[in-house]
Amino acid sequence: MVIVRTIKQMQEAKKGLFGSIGFVPTMGALHQGHLSLIQQARKENDHLVVSIFVNPTQFLEGEDLNAYPRKDEADIKICELTGVDILFMPTVDAMYEADELCIGAPAIRGYVLEGEKRPGHFDGMLQVVMKLLNLSGANRAYFGKKDAQQLALITQMVKNYFMDVTIVPCEIVRDEQGLALSSRNVYLKDDEKERALSLSRALKHATKMVMAGERDVASIKAQMLEVLSEADKVEYVAIVDRAFKALETVEIGNTIILVAAWVGKPRLIDNLWV
Ligand code: PAF
Repeated sequence: MVIVRTIKQMQEAKKGLFGSIGFVPTMGALHQGHLSLIQQARKENDHLVVSIFVNPTQFLEGEDLNAYPRKDEADIKICELTGVDILFMPTVDAMYEADELCIGAPAIRGYVLEGEKRPGHFDGMLQVVMKLLNLSGANRAYFGKKDAQQLALITQMVKNYFMDVTIVPCEIVRDEQGLALSSRNVYLKDDEKERALSLSRALKHATKMVMAGERDVASIKAQMLEVLSEADKVEYVAIVDRAFKALETVEIGNTIILVAAWVGKPRLIDNLWV
């Protein structure tokens, strides 16, 4: 494995790769969820590039940029052990200059749900993902379904800018109790962990209702909110189609049920595709 830190090194390293390139962009503090992306990318491609970059432009004022968990040494070990060929760990200065050309999230689906609660977040996320996709030379790039709206917007960017890369959606990885894995779970204290499970419980409850024939979005959301009463503050419960348009009736095969809630320090998100 080579670790590259400058743009030039990344561009040079990629030139030596013949065959398909799989790419997994991350912000580090790697957990089992990242591992599953890395393993899938390893299997499906000749070469594997991973990036670790805590991207400042996707954090809003007052968010946890400076406190974001960083575990570079452990992350490097994990990448070595999982067969990563190139690990790209750039500095902020290498990635950005002043007065940049920016990409904006689309006006509708970029500004609902996460986009409404975190205005500007998706602009910064798309900006860095565009840079990383270009730099990595990826044929396939792997993203978790946990950040469902992020995944939808990246897929749209690739389509709208005619980028020659396949975006591969990957399943959410959960711990044995059902909590969706996230680097921010380290902030959860023991008693909060139990209450954090209310997110996946609410989603399970929604699935049960759908399986029992319920299709009315208002009834499903009302019951989910009851299950979520253990969270400190629910930011949203939403039922949308795969293009993030609000639904009144669940459409099997085209629906995503999403929750965002605060439990203790972290803001958690989770979702389920039905
Ligand atoms: O999902 C993430 O970890 C980040 O948003 C990403 C895609 C690496 C861009 O910084």
